[in-house]
Amino acid sequence: MFAYNRSFLSGYDFLVHTVNCNLFWQCPTRHVVDLYRRHAGARHLDIGPGTGALLRRARLSPGTAVHLMDLNEGPLEVARRALPRHRVETHRQDVLKPWDLDEASMDSIAMSLVFHALPGDSIGAKSTAVQEASRVLAPGGRFFGATILPLGRSVRTTARARWLMDSYIRRGVFDNAGDDADELDSVLRDSFGTVRSRTRGCVALWEAWN
Ligand SMILES: C[S@@+](CC[C@H](N)C(=O)[O-])C[C@H]1O[C@@H](n2cnc3c(N)ncnc32)[C@H](O)[C@@H]1O
Repeated sequence: MFAYNRSFLSGYDFLVHTVNCNLFWQCPTRHVVDLYRRHAGARHLDIGPGTGALLRRARLSPGTAVHLMDLNEGPLEVARRALPRHRVETHRQDVLKPWDLDEASMDSIAMSLVFHALPGDSIGAKSTAVQEASRVLAPGGRFFGATILPLGRSVRTTARARWLMDSYIRRGVFDNAGDDADELDSVLRDSFGTVRSRTRGCVALWEAWN
């Protein structure tokens, strides 16, 4: 698995949110931030927070209890420091293993730009994350996020995006060669009664709840 260590994270926001999302994936980060502004609840769990930049840009209300889940210690520490005004709890945990969190304990869960980094030959192989999100959300709680993918009827992949995606797959940064927007939609529908998903460029954005 690719190492999200502190040195990589120091250049992460510029590389991913200024360069890649705009010039390659054709989905400016503001579309992801908008999901946070609309759906983040009083108890918010962020899976794979990276530097915490999306949470900062979301301007969460001061009373929000923020939970961060990540396989790596670096993002947990960096993102915690990015949110000095919030109560933050960290959970070092693989999102593909059963989560050590109680049923109905969160009001919102975000998983932004994480699916494409998870191991698995399809979105179906990564579906534990969706099932666990549905278990851990309180009734009416929102699950939302975004992922970069190469396949699906509505996905628009330019030659430039394909080139960068292939190079990330070869280097083990992405593991999304079999990820399909239509399958993501169906995996979400297996766990949630209401699903709204769309694509911008080669990024799928979704919001789902029961
Ligand atoms: C591409 S970064 C996304 C960061 C941030 N959400 C954003 O959109 O800028 C992927 C994040 O997922 C975490 N991650 C990767 N594999 C994981 C796994 N199996 N379980 C939990 N977190 C994981 C990484 O450590 C990193 O923080």
